Amino acid sequence: MSETSANVVAIYPGSFDPITTGHLDVIERGSRLCDRLIVSILRNEAKAPLFTVEERMEMLSEVTDRFPNVEVDCFHGLLADYALRRGARVIIRGIRAISDYEYELQMALMNRRLQPQLETIFLLAGEQYSFISSKLVKEIISLGGNIAGLVPPTVEKCLRARLKEVD
Ligand code: PNS
Repeated sequence: MSETSANVVAIYPGSFDPITTGHLDVIERGSRLCDRLIVSILRNEAKAPLFTVEERMEMLSEVTDRFPNVEVDCFHGLLADYALRRGARVIIRGIRAISDYEYELQMALMNRRLQPQLETIFLLAGEQYSFISSKLVKEIISLGGNIAGLVPPTVEKCLRARLKEVD
């Protein structure tokens, strides 16, 4: 697809280890604001994730299948450089609470310094998702707690399967 100035391409970057219902809500809201939304996973060997990048991409693709303008990808290196390579002018990040803001502000300003044409847009997930994080979901399920509604059902299945493997 050729890009014109009327085509707004946005990137929603993150670790998505795994994707939660809060992430999915941000994807849905973001997809309504742009022509194409690229949900992209950072390849970060240093983070020791529970799921490989390929597994996370598969989960993301499955749960975003119903959004025709959403694409799933992965990247390494600087987000600002990747955004430029993908023809994106907008970065989308979700903000849950004021505690997220300081780190997000720093990243947004740094990305703008690296690529002045990049704008970061912060989206608020629905308030019912404001306490969800991938980290807490992993902790709760590993300790036998109920995570229904915190992640899409297909992701819950993958989490249960992964926990059985590491048991
Ligand atoms: O879901 P996360 O872990 O909060 O996402 C963080 C992410 C991937 C958006 C951030 O770590 C990132 O953009 N990393 C890429 C490297 C980079 O560009 N670093 C400078 C950021 S100003």
